[in-house]
Amino acid sequence: MSSSAPPSAPLAARLRNVNKSFGDGGARLQVLKAIDLDVRCGDITMLIGPSGCGKTTLLSIIAGTLGCDEGSGEVTVFGQDLLRMSKGRTTQFRAQSIGFIFQSFNLIPTLTCVENVSVPLLIQGKSTGFAEKRAREVLDQVGLADRMKHRPTQLSGGQQQRVAIARALVHEPRLIICDEPTAALDAKNGTLVMDLFEKVARSPERAVLIVTHDNRIFSHANRIASMDDGRIVELHDVDASHPLPEHLQHGFHA
Ligand SMILES: Nc1ncnc2c1ncn2[C@@H]1O[C@H](COP(=O)(O)OP(=O)(O)O)[C@@H](O)[C@H]1O
Ligand SMILES: [Mg+2]
Repeated sequence: MSSSAPPSAPLAARLRNVNKSFGDGGARLQVLKAIDLDVRCGDITMLIGPSGCGKTTLLSIIAGTLGCDEGSGEVTVFGQDLLRMSKGRTTQFRAQSIGFIFQSFNLIPTLTCVENVSVPLLIQGKSTGFAEKRAREVLDQVGLADRMKHRPTQLSGGQQQRVAIARALVHEPRLIICDEPTAALDAKNGTLVMDLFEKVARSPERAVLIVTHDNRIFSHANRIASMDDGRIVELHDVDASHPLPEHLQHGFHA
């Protein structure tokens, strides 16, 4: 754990009164209920809570891939009002500013690791040569130097997860959003990935937001938001004067 961002740190994301429902009429299900959340730059923020409580839905709203209900208050990412941004501008903003690691990895099966990791740079208009050189550097950082030319089906779950992490880091986005980034990783690779995220969050202009069940990584959090049934029910800042609460203290990584 590094020290928390100061209270005045710029916000990567600011959510106020965010509501989200799926379906309508009798089948309407309210999944997010009046969510308020600040994601500070310089922090690793972790979002925890039982399956189905709305964590992935909340990440998708911050990433701009999902809208929220009419009458919601505010979803601001690096000062940009996502609720009032055009679809085209949102796509462009997301490609530049956000690295998203999906729960299901979402790798492209026909592309090699290097090609998969190059995608965000190619979307930004970088040359293939530049993109693949940078992709190789990041694959090396996640311990996959010997798997550059493999395709996703030729990799273990943990290796695929690290390719997805490399793809989220390759264009150095200001906000890294990850849905269960260490679920398929052993202790050694989990630590390697958390060290990379800590490097990102050490920058005062960048932030990491992680959904996790993995109590091995709670010690890396600066802030832990606990969700239940569509609401944030607890918020803990973790630093030298605010240690991790007792009920979140489990065996950390080996
Ligand atoms: N596209 C969708 N349509 C209908 N219901 C959905 C959709 N996405 C999620 N849900 C429902 O919303 C709830 C929260 O889902 P999710 O955000 O994926 O939870 P978590 O990530 O915390 O497990 C679940 O009950 C899920 O079934
Ligand atoms: Mg989920």
